[in-house]
Amino acid sequence: MKIWKNNMRKIASENIDMDRIPKHIAIIMDGNGRWAKQQGMPRTMGHRAGVEALRNIVRFSSNLGVKYLTVYAFSTENWRRPQSEIGILMSLLKEYVRKELDELNANNVKIRILGDIYQLPKDVLESILFACQKTKDNTGLIFNLALNYGGRAELIMAIKKIINDVQNNYLETEEINENLFDSYLYTAGCPEPELLIRTSGEMRLSNFLLWQVAYSEIVVVKECWPDFNEKSLHDAIRTYQNRERRFGGIKKVEE
Ligand code: IPE
Ligand code: IPE
Ligand code: MG
Repeated sequence: MKIWKNNMRKIASENIDMDRIPKHIAIIMDGNGRWAKQQGMPRTMGHRAGVEALRNIVRFSSNLGVKYLTVYAFSTENWRRPQSEIGILMSLLKEYVRKELDELNANNVKIRILGDIYQLPKDVLESILFACQKTKDNTGLIFNLALNYGGRAELIMAIKKIINDVQNNYLETEEINENLFDSYLYTAGCPEPELLIRTSGEMRLSNFLLWQVAYSEIVVVKECWPDFNEKSLHDAIRTYQNRERRFGGIKKVEE
């Protein structure tokens, strides 16, 4: 079993402030299809290469000390794709979880799923639930896989649960506030992502973490997801570290 090792010298050479690594990084892994097309290959090959990129980025994130990594793997809208592509994506997911589980576990990674996974094919669902169960006590990187995830669906799910709890007298309407609402989301317990990365140049959220990214710094990179590597991650973190986060306030020097 491979235990991941930190390459501090490399990180130092990329000028990253290790004291300001984002706690939570969210990634919209986009551009697998375009990557494949550029290479004259079928889209499937792009998804395969995308899985490779994901394996690496989980490792690099863990080594950097990122506490939460949330990746958009399949959206509630991705069911609109041809059945054949959905089938490939599902089997790649299952294969990924099955093949990576031991290594993720050995490196203290805890797998969590965001989304309505009960609509996934049974074999995929089973392998995912098994992986969550196996890694549930791990204390290292929390790896959130957004699967059959949609930000709007998540908000509706939360609202329905809250109404149900109010109707059953578990909750008073007056108790509803932003913190309580957070605790009804799939991401309950995770801080908001400080950094949201989207690959392949597209400037949109595509229904990802609508509530949670209210104040995230968004970094869109040109490269397609299969080309996103350790240096790309370091560059995105450095870009984030050079941003000024104001949260509606004003610059410190202007106070
Ligand atoms: C991202 O790559 C993977 C998923 C959405 C599952 P795409 O498949 O969206 O690739 P492009 O955007 O068509 O290039
Ligand atoms: C967003 O990418 C979903 C995932 C990365 C899983 P899409 O490729 O589905 O988004 P659009 O269609 O370009 O907005
Ligand atoms: Mg896409």
